[in-house]
Amino acid sequence: MEKETNSPSSHSGDVYFSLQASWGITKHLGGLRATRLLAQRCHIGEDKKVLVVGCGVGTTACYLVKEYRCRVVGTDISESMIERSRQRARREGVADMVDFRVADAQALPFEDGMFDAVICESVLAFVGDRQKAVNEFTRVTRSGGYVGFNEVTWLKPPPLKLVAYLTRIMGADFLMADGWKGLLEQSGLGEISAESFRTNVLRQWSEEVSQFETADFMRAWGRYAAGLLKDPAVRKFTVDALSFPKSIFSLFSYFGYGIYSGMKG
Ligand SMILES: C[S@@+](CC[C@H](N)C(=O)[O-])C[C@H]1O[C@@H](n2cnc3c(N)ncnc32)[C@H](O)[C@@H]1O
Repeated sequence: MEKETNSPSSHSGDVYFSLQASWGITKHLGGLRATRLLAQRCHIGEDKKVLVVGCGVGTTACYLVKEYRCRVVGTDISESMIERSRQRARREGVADMVDFRVADAQALPFEDGMFDAVICESVLAFVGDRQKAVNEFTRVTRSGGYVGFNEVTWLKPPPLKLVAYLTRIMGADFLMADGWKGLLEQSGLGEISAESFRTNVLRQWSEEVSQFETADFMRAWGRYAAGLLKDPAVRKFTVDALSFPKSIFSLFSYFGYGIYSGMKG
């Protein structure tokens, strides 16, 4: 088994994700409710073969197996995320229905048309060439299958300081709805659907609570506390994260999430 580490590398996005992997928790806006809607839009059901790109700690991949009895492959660029996903699948008793492997969303190691649906949640904002990634999703989807994603979506143009802060801390680059939708259009998909949703701190919290168990949160906080005590990189990240612009208090007036999907003709 891979060694657990709280030690992030130098790039801000890498720091953010190596911390999340060490805590064993990854998230997307809208939580379980958004996952269900995405699954519905992509016609996920029994016996379907589904690829979950950027699966993080495997929450959605395991959920899909349990809820829809589909076969799932989960990929992530991070080795430690994949290890966490495998642990989760074993813990939840679904390891025989889900495979996890390390892969970059921009170069998927699968043949054309292998999947009935390809989905990702809160991943494209962190990918260098997201059009290339969406083209890859489309390539590995069968004709008549669906590509869908959930991404943080600016509901109105955000203050530059807020954008700079989120880029610095998370390495994220979010778009407005038209930008996300355009990725699906450019990759040649049809029947495109784009829906944007507002959320807030309380609603997001309650969605996350329904997705994780109390033990998951306790473990994550314990690992974070240990990191704060032992690891200078965790302390530096925390100090950086605390130097936020005032507009962070109205974050949810600027950003929500969008569920985007399209069908391969
Ligand atoms: C915000 S987390 C979301 C994880 C998961 N989808 C969820 O909803 O919990 C983003 C994930 O995308 C992964 N990621 C970032 N860039 C990637 C890339 N180029 N290819 C594949 N995965 C990537 C990160 O390692 C991380 O696990």
